[in-house]
Amino acid sequence: MKADPGRTEGGEFRSLMRLIPYARPYLWHFVGVVLLVLIFNGSTVLQPYLVKLAIDRDLAGGGHPGHLLFLSLLYVGIVVAGLAANYSQIMLLQSAGQQIIRRIRIDLFTHIERQGMRYFDHNATGRLVTHIANDTETVNQFFTQFFLSMIRDGLSVVMIIIAMFELDVRVAAECMVILPVIALVAVLFRRTLRRAYQTTRTRLSNIVAFLAENLAGMRIIQIFQQEARQAEAFRELADTHRGASVIEYGVSVLFNRSFEMLGNAAVAAVAWAGGLAVLHHAMAFGTLYAFISYIRQFFGPINALTQQWNTLQSSIVSADRISRVFQQAPEITDPAQPIELTAGQVRGHIRFERVSFGYRPGQPVLHDVSFEVKPGWFVGFVGATGAGKSSLMSLLLRFYDPDAGRILLDGVDIRQLRQADLHRFVGWVQQDVNLFSGTIADNIRMFRSEISDAEVRKAAEVVGAAEFIERLPDGYDTFLHGKGANLSMGERQLLAFARVVALNPRVLILDEATANLDSRTEAWVQRGLRAVARERTTLVIAHRLATIRDADQIFVLDHGHIVEQGTHDELLALNGLYADLWAKSGTEYESEAEWKTTPKTLSHPR
Ligand SMILES: Nc1ncnc2c1ncn2[C@@H]1O[C@H](COP(=O)(O)OP(=O)(O)OP(=O)(O)O)[C@@H](O)[C@H]1O
Ligand SMILES: [Mg+2]
Repeated sequence: MKADPGRTEGGEFRSLMRLIPYARPYLWHFVGVVLLVLIFNGSTVLQPYLVKLAIDRDLAGGGHPGHLLFLSLLYVGIVVAGLAANYSQIMLLQSAGQQIIRRIRIDLFTHIERQGMRYFDHNATGRLVTHIANDTETVNQFFTQFFLSMIRDGLSVVMIIIAMFELDVRVAAECMVILPVIALVAVLFRRTLRRAYQTTRTRLSNIVAFLAENLAGMRIIQIFQQEARQAEAFRELADTHRGASVIEYGVSVLFNRSFEMLGNAAVAAVAWAGGLAVLHHAMAFGTLYAFISYIRQFFGPINALTQQWNTLQSSIVSADRISRVFQQAPEITDPAQPIELTAGQVRGHIRFERVSFGYRPGQPVLHDVSFEVKPGWFVGFVGATGAGKSSLMSLLLRFYDPDAGRILLDGVDIRQLRQADLHRFVGWVQQDVNLFSGTIADNIRMFRSEISDAEVRKAAEVVGAAEFIERLPDGYDTFLHGKGANLSMGERQLLAFARVVALNPRVLILDEATANLDSRTEAWVQRGLRAVARERTTLVIAHRLATIRDADQIFVLDHGHIVEQGTHDELLALNGLYADLWAKSGTEYESEAEWKTTPKTLSHPR
């Protein structure tokens, strides 16, 4: 994809604006927040003014004690109202922010779930996890911190300035000299501070990435005795992060203290200039008190406002990453008018017509592949590593669409079916088994509640998984931790078979699915699978050629071409690639004679 010339390095503000619609349902929340902020700010600004009234009217002029009591009570009332408004405003804003982020997260995940496999080939899992987990959180800061600060602190500054001019125009105007100085300090520090902040984040994410990789590969690290070296590498990463962190804190403390110093200098200036005015009776003492309080209050919101620059920057970067995920339209979509097929109608006839396919343009993996599988057939696919066997099956499952040609299921182009239907008709078991956090029963029924406990048990029995499951302390309710780390490879494989039996598809694809099983278990599984539905079409990829020796048809792939096809005997007679593979395959049967006398594992019906 070409880089967008209008895109700045850190992303653009437009991306953030694209997420605004998520905030729209909470418009009234935000209006409420503004009102509450007004109350809170009003209370803060009124406090010094009340004290001024007490000093100038009552203390200096020998006023009424009842009046003083009234002012004190009013003061307390205003403070309490301010606190209540502040609390409600924070809760209101956070609840809106969290709901917005929840919605964005759900939409992101759903959008990613709809992507074709090519998307996952190009996007590392770690990055996608970061988008869903962290980037959304950063965007939340825009809706809460940034928005809040603009309203609350912006209003504070404006209200304080108005109050000061209300008190004394000349002194207020003199105080405004401070504004350009503040701007200068902010500009000077901001850039350094932002750079320091970004360096620390980058180094922290390096640490996270390093940890993830090393924890996942701990066995290999220990076997190859790389502990010391990895520890050294980790120490370096930790060192660079420490350095960046210290610098970040240094800059930020220096910035905050400079601001404080500026604030104190301003207070001193006002105390001096105002003090002279009080001495010359040009200003009341209470007014001076109020001025000093306002100048103090002034610097808090100004500081908060300048810090929002960082929040805005990181929100834009995160929003940009999120937008990019949203902008990626799924490559594989359902047709506008899908052809309706019910499971009962599907017979399991498969036809590939001149199919060509490559993962990357200009690098074809399958060339002009045509073949046919009749309903109920048991067929084998063989070929060297990388020949394109799994790719063929990925196309049948529509993980990818072919570049040319078409694939028919019972005469219907699979692109005219809903993907959900296709995946109900075509089941798939591969060597890598993906188990999910949940019980064994959950994993067999794949969380589909319509599958009953009895069906789960039946499926497990058919493939011979019941025996080991029932030996577990909690049986079918055994919880699987860490993708089933508490099971052996073969046991995981049996669960995958039980899962596909529970699905009961018309077409079954087994991609090296029995490679983890011993021969006896494999035989049991094969028998079980064939027993479930005699009319099931089964496509088997196997390196162990004996597994598919009995197949109705065997297709031999070489560099993305089907070079031979026929039954085992026909292919041997050809004396080509298959005969060669068979000769070298080191089957469990020493000779043809032994094969003929061994009981067959596959009692497939013809
Ligand atoms: N996701 C992918 N992205 C890019 N190239 C891929 C991808 N998957 C496979 N390939 C390439 O496509 C070719 C065919 O791979 P495929 O997985 O279909 O082979 P295979 O016959 O199943 O091999 P094996 O017996 O090792 O499983 C290989 O050259 C491989 O490098
Ligand atoms: Mg493969």
